[in-house]
Amino acid sequence: MNELPAPIGLDRVPRATLIQLRSFEAVARLGGVGRAAKALHLAQSTVSMQLKELTEAVGVPLFEPLGRGLILTQHGEVLLQTVRDLFAVWQRFEDQTAELQGLKRGRLRIAAVTTTEYFLPDLLGPFAREHPGIDIELTVQNRDAVVARLERGEDELAAMMLPPTHLPLNRWPFLENPLVVIAPAAHPLTQRKRLKLSQLVDQPLLVREAGSGTRLATEQFLAEHGVQWSPRMALGSNEAIKHAVRAGLGLAVLSRHTLSADLSGTGVTVLPVAGFPIRRMWHLVWRKDRPLSLAARTLLQDLRRHLGVRTPLSSPS
Ligand code: PGA
Repeated sequence: MNELPAPIGLDRVPRATLIQLRSFEAVARLGGVGRAAKALHLAQSTVSMQLKELTEAVGVPLFEPLGRGLILTQHGEVLLQTVRDLFAVWQRFEDQTAELQGLKRGRLRIAAVTTTEYFLPDLLGPFAREHPGIDIELTVQNRDAVVARLERGEDELAAMMLPPTHLPLNRWPFLENPLVVIAPAAHPLTQRKRLKLSQLVDQPLLVREAGSGTRLATEQFLAEHGVQWSPRMALGSNEAIKHAVRAGLGLAVLSRHTLSADLSGTGVTVLPVAGFPIRRMWHLVWRKDRPLSLAARTLLQDLRRHLGVRTPLSSPS
């Protein structure tokens, strides 16, 4: 007589739901119910209720209050790791399903630093039009936030200027990112044909927030040239910097791609400073320890063809 195959799976179905676990992960990552609710587009009361039900389902406390936020208990830490593993397995299932369906359906998550928002949607346009069944989720944040997403494996691809060295990454330098010094269009320094960096240091310097790759590249460049140019003010976006420069609050170093090709009428101008533009590249990066989906591989190939970049593309693993 044929023996029946042994049952696989759990003896007891967990009472926790994936929805509750998703909220739990967001609260753990963002440090508060309010922030998690905002990120998940849910009411705060819904997230609180999900956490309460989850705590009852697992039967141990998951968070304890710290100041105005929450921190994980030891049980919570263990659950968080479990949830991340679960979600990674689920993502693999979705990827495999997408593979089976070719490029008909699926999701492609991409993280990009803020400086790339001026051109990346255009680059993604042809792929998105050709594969309408692939939902592209493009998250735009500063460098540190994109690195954190890469650490957590939240996206398949990330676009950034300064990839981190502590992660196993494939990298493809796909576009030049020249960094220039900008000034208000009517600034007296705009009369000069040539300027030295040392002639700028009396001017107020406006920088991006801590965690920005633009700021990091600027600091590295100043340090390499032994120039002390202390920031007067930090602003949280490229647009805020441009407005502040236009308003005469100071000078700044920004990606040329954050400015219009034609600067006339924009109220800002690029100063001819020796050593500038700082020549950097943007890279598309992806983790070596995770297989790329068919959608991600196809996008990389399309971009490579479209950009005609001769830089070798590490073979997608
Ligand atoms: P960020 O981008 O300043 O928005 O972090 C930097 C980059 O181009 O990598």
